[in-house]
Amino acid sequence: MGLNIDIVTIFPEYFGDETSGPLRTSLIGKAAARGDIGFQIHDLRRWALDVHHTVDDVPFGGGPGMVMKPDVWGAALDEVLAADGAVDSADAAAGRSADSGRLVVPTPSGVPFTQAVATRYAAQSRLIFACGRYEGIDGRVVDHMRQRMPVDEISVGDYVLAGGEAAVLVMIEAVGRLLPGVLGNASSADDDSFGGAGGSMTGLLEGPVYTRPRTWRGHEVPEILLSGNHAAIARWRRDMALRRTAAHRPDLLTALELDARDRQVLAAGFPVSGKDMAH
Ligand code: ADE
Repeated sequence: MGLNIDIVTIFPEYFGDETSGPLRTSLIGKAAARGDIGFQIHDLRRWALDVHHTVDDVPFGGGPGMVMKPDVWGAALDEVLAADGAVDSADAAAGRSADSGRLVVPTPSGVPFTQAVATRYAAQSRLIFACGRYEGIDGRVVDHMRQRMPVDEISVGDYVLAGGEAAVLVMIEAVGRLLPGVLGNASSADDDSFGGAGGSMTGLLEGPVYTRPRTWRGHEVPEILLSGNHAAIARWRRDMALRRTAAHRPDLLTALELDARDRQVLAAGFPVSGKDMAH
């Protein structure tokens, strides 16, 4: 087994079952079927021992909403962590050890989830996601777990979701496609937006792409892409990526090393698609 993922949630149904749902679909589903990635979904309420299976309580200090109880989370994580993060001989050969893994707590107040974080997670043997709901999990749970293992509080973006479940699916999809053998073309991740392998597109948003037909509703495919001149095509793609990055994410440009041509392209304006650059 490559990457073992545990998810603790009060909505296990969110993640589907053994045969259907987001973890059994498309690339991730195929990786799971091959055994490159394994999922264990745990219902937090199993560890809520009162008759109502209560997982939350009112916040100390007052304020709106409810806070998830530390005793329930503590019992859940103790048991999930005690179970083996199954690691087989292939992992041992690849230098992955059977460790207690990394605890990932999705929260809007976490550090940003980036392609770099996804790449780090893809090299782990075990990730445990703890999905909070309501106003979050009692802060002592993370404090305590940090004494036992690496813990990341992670935000998938500057907006507030109703709970961590959707954020976990986002992270699993970003990590899963980086696992060896998951993408059909091993190098296709390098040219993605944020592709990090040091190619000509590193740090840039990807520009527009085209397929047949050559003319569609009066719009032509950019001529250069039909030229067969690979160097010119690569340069054109970088130009488009620069312009799109300047238009959509100017904050990313400051981290780039720009050459004279790059600066010229940026000075020429901010069209973001190949031909008709309006909108
Ligand atoms: N839970 C609620 N909002 C979230 C966000 N933006 N990222 C991660 N987890 C969350």
